[in-house]
This record gives sequence, structure tokens and C-alpha cells, in this order.
Amino acid sequence: MKIIFRFLIITIFFLFNFLLTVSAQTTDNTGATSTAKAEPTGNSERGRELFTGNIRFSNGGAACNSCHNVDLKGFMSGGALGKDLTHAITRLSAPGVTMVVSGLPFPQMKETYGTKPVTKQEIADIVAFLTTADKEAPENVINKFGEYLLIGGIAGIVILLGLYSFFWIRRKKRPVNSIIFNRQVKST
Ligand code: HEC
Repeated sequence: MKIIFRFLIITIFFLFNFLLTVSAQTTDNTGATSTAKAEPTGNSERGRELFTGNIRFSNGGAACNSCHNVDLKGFMSGGALGKDLTHAITRLSAPGVTMVVSGLPFPQMKETYGTKPVTKQEIADIVAFLTTADKEAPENVINKFGEYLLIGGIAGIVILLGLYSFFWIRRKKRPVNSIIFNRQVKST
């Protein structure tokens, strides 16, 4: 349910931005100026420093790391308020992540960057870093953790069932007073 909701929000933002760019282009075309603005290329190393806060954002927003974690060897672990972004690129694609940081569909991120926007170049750097992280990080650690939980749960149930049946076999098969009762019945 939550995933569907998130997906919807991001899809709506995609559409919204698409419409915005289309309308911007049409107005520009009437003004006879071309809008072939080159997208900045990202630098993964710089993105990494920006993500952890070693380099500050030029507009002074908080480091992504304070709310998000990226699961890389030797990498400072980040906050847990936002989702783990190790495989954000697989999940949302590079334009998807760009859209989240520039469009700010999540209230907590809007709070942080609404008045201190991350620049296009910085976004490109962070997306480059997340793309590297996506490739380098161990495959879906979280999913594996989920599998362990599932296997552990099933093993636990099997063990409990075993214990129950063991005690069930050794249960008292007749009431305590049945012996007395039988004796009484015989004596009459
Ligand atoms: C104040 C805390 C905070 C900061 C700082 C922050 N985020 Fe977020 N972010 C959130 C929350 C909360 C969400 C929404 C819930 C979620 O998806 O975990 C979110 C969602 C996201 C998502 C969508 C994740 C998904 O899979 O749905 C991306 C991508 C993202 N943030 C990237 C970034 C980047 C890049 C930065 C740094 C420029 C950043 N965030 C900084 C709190 C933060």
C-alpha cells in the first residue's frame, strides 16, 4: 500500500515536470530562443562528499546522510528517517532521484531544501555517486535480511510444533479421578 502510494507520488511528479518543461519550451520557441541547455554531468567523488556533508551544499541545506543511509564498505552510516538509498537508482532510476531532490515531493525534504535548494550540479554529483553506490554495494542487503527473517520464522514454527507434539504425546490421557471412579463403579 505504502509502496503504491510512493510510486503514485513520483509518477505524478514526473508528469508535472514533463508538462512544465513542455510548456517552458513552447513559450521559449515563440521567443525564438533555443532551450538546448546541457544537463550538468555529475562527479561521483564530489557527490559522495556532498552526501556525507564533507562538502557543504552551496545553499546550506543539510547533508543527505543525516536522514538517509547508503550501505557501502567504509562509508559512514547515515540516518534512518528516510529510506536507505543504496539501491535508489535501481528503484527509481537516475531521473527519478533527480526529480525527488529537485521536486521535493516528501514533506521532510521540502522542509530541509524548500528554501535552500540543491543546485543542478550538486544533484548531478549526488546522482553520480548513488549510481556508483548502486553498482558497488552488495546486492540488496535488506532483501537478504528479510529472507533470513522468513527462514528464521519458519524454523521457529517447526521447532515449536515439535515441542508441542512431544508434550502432547506425554499428556495425561485420562482424568486423575478416573481410577477412583472405576474402582467405585466396580465395587457397586
Ligand atoms: C530531513 C531529512 C532528509 C534529508 C536531509 C534528505 N531526505 Fe530524502 N527523504 C526523506 C524522507 C522522510 C523521505 C520519504 C520517505 C522515504 O522514502 O524514506 C525521503 C525520500 C527520498 C527519496 C525517495 C526514496 C524512495 O525510494 O522512495 C530519495 C531518492 C531521496 N529522499 C534522496 C535524498 C537526497 C539525494 C538527499 C540529499 C540531497 C536527501 N534525500 C536528503 C528525508 C530526508
